[in-house]
Amino acid sequence: IRRNTVPQIASRKGAEPIVSLTSYHAHTAAIVDKFADFILVGDSLGMVMHGMESTVGVPLDLMIMHGKAVVRGTQKALIVVDMPFGTYEESPNMAFRNAAKIMKETQCQAVKLEGGARMAETIKFLVERGIPVMAHIGLTPQSSHVMGGFKTQGRDEDTWPAHIADAKAVSEAGAFAVVVEGVVEPLADQITAAVDIPTIGIGASAKCDGQILVLEDMLGLNPWVPKFVKKYGNLGLMIEQAVSDYASEVKNRSFPSAENMYQPKK
Ligand code: KIV
Ligand code: NA
Repeated sequence: IRRNTVPQIASRKGAEPIVSLTSYHAHTAAIVDKFADFILVGDSLGMVMHGMESTVGVPLDLMIMHGKAVVRGTQKALIVVDMPFGTYEESPNMAFRNAAKIMKETQCQAVKLEGGARMAETIKFLVERGIPVMAHIGLTPQSSHVMGGFKTQGRDEDTWPAHIADAKAVSEAGAFAVVVEGVVEPLADQITAAVDIPTIGIGASAKCDGQILVLEDMLGLNPWVPKFVKKYGNLGLMIEQAVSDYASEVKNRSFPSAENMYQPKK
């Protein structure tokens, strides 16, 4: 099976909605691969998998390690790996060096980075040199310290032109799609109408060209999730029940039972 390609994803503008989720490891990625057009190895893994308070502390090597696992576990979806904070903002050269490292070591098909107009020059530099880039605008979690938290964007209509300009800038720079995160619904709709590339919404609008969620959030593994997440499962409770059953059976010696033990030849 051939993987979905960057041009295939780009061509879905205004067409059938693009389905995507994050994945960080091989087994869950293999399940997601059955349904997703692309899979993002998001730097949210710092918070979801490693207990960090924000994505700011995520190192490049960690993205590469999880990126490799997801590529190995999948066959069909396009794999996009997030560039972590501090590995691309300084200069186009720095961004190219680190994006190339991610692509060579993980064998992913594209990278994602945060920022609109301010990252346009870098996006152009990467795309011209063979690295497909997915942009990410609106609420950009790597800037959470500047914003004073994870703040929904565009509540004040005066701020809309700047967000729309960000979308146009990344599109003109050659990004093949753009994640639009944490913005009020009508702003997401205006952004989607303003650019020729697919918008991938998260906490945005049903009219975006696609949607993405953090897998563990929508599975109900995390106790707390933001309002924009719909819980499609209750994995946290399922795991708790299973671990609790196991603990009781170990204590009352009903596990292991005959079917879980080996016996010598008769
Ligand atoms: O890191 C991540 O999971 C993301 C998505 C939420 C878009 O960037
Ligand atoms: Na991210």
